[in-house]
Amino acid sequence: MKALAITTGKPGVSLVDREIPRIESPDEIKVRILRVGICGTDREEVIGGRAKAPQHSQDLVIGHEMFGVVEEAGKSVQQFAPGDYIVFTVRRGCGHCDSCNMNRPDMCTTGDYTERGIWGQDGYQTELVVDKEQYAVKVPKELKDIGVLIEPLSVAEKAVDEAVMLQVKHLPYLRDDKEVITDKNILVAGLGPIGLLAGFILRLKGAKVYGLDVVDQDTPRALLLKQIGGSYIDGRKIPVDHIEESIGRMDIILEATGVAALEFNLLDALGPNGIYVLTGIPGGDRPLQIDGAEIIRRLVLNNQVMVGSVNASQKHFQMAVDDLSRFRETFGNTIDKVITDRIPYNKFSDAFAHHGSEEIKTVVEWMP
Ligand code: BGC
Repeated sequence: MKALAITTGKPGVSLVDREIPRIESPDEIKVRILRVGICGTDREEVIGGRAKAPQHSQDLVIGHEMFGVVEEAGKSVQQFAPGDYIVFTVRRGCGHCDSCNMNRPDMCTTGDYTERGIWGQDGYQTELVVDKEQYAVKVPKELKDIGVLIEPLSVAEKAVDEAVMLQVKHLPYLRDDKEVITDKNILVAGLGPIGLLAGFILRLKGAKVYGLDVVDQDTPRALLLKQIGGSYIDGRKIPVDHIEESIGRMDIILEATGVAALEFNLLDALGPNGIYVLTGIPGGDRPLQIDGAEIIRRLVLNNQVMVGSVNASQKHFQMAVDDLSRFRETFGNTIDKVITDRIPYNKFSDAFAHHGSEEIKTVVEWMP
């Protein structure tokens, strides 16, 4: 069967032949891949950046944002049958820390986890994959055209969930997600898939969402945000250090840019007692000059919380499935427009090229 693979640490990606995987234990499911999304992590991998091949190999099959259909289910599989739509999670636990033992490998404490398609395990940019039922999430058939958004949405769900949980513990007068989010000023920085999908979650819960990017008003990211009732901020016109005076203080900031200098500058817009969740993973190692004393002074004097959030648990994948249906009910087919480019697997080079400001999510199609 065909697969898209890289040699870790080297630029380039190629179409390779791999053996068809077989079910080897009764709790496994064999899935035919329909499509797989591409994100910044994949693009980083194909230019020779962060990636780890499985043991005893230098090559890694990439891809972690999968969507497929069950082809065969092992004898002890309970919840899935052939023909069901399915998504597998990304991270596999280390097996020896409390988080992983509680099915929360996204909070692994040892760092010995693996991630399919990224870190030590082959991924999903291929025709067929096998994995265990415990890592699978069922997708209703109505969502089959957008089910490939579940993985990036799960990352946004976790980021919002972290902000909510922290704020409920942090502030004596806030009790639940409604109180933390409804009518609050929330800045989403970077309107790529993670930022935009976070915008959908936050609008669904009634936040005043401000989305910051550096694209024109009439390009898809800005337009989709406005269609769901968010306000677009063009970072080229309103600099980050003017957001507070132009728009107001932010109760929560959710960052999805991966641009280290901006990640620090955004703190300027955070209000007292605010929560700042970072999800962007900056590449490169260019040194950065920051005013450390000023940043710490602000954090302390304002009781602010700055927290990183990566990956997502099975619970967040399920939240993503449920919210995708709600997005359709509330915002119609606006959510479908997050997928801007669908590229057949044999034209994979086009998929990894940058498509400019018209692109939001590119997916590789494995079935015609
Ligand atoms: C993926 C996560 C993963 C992270 C770090 C992201 O692109 O969506 O699942 O944990 O990269 O490798």
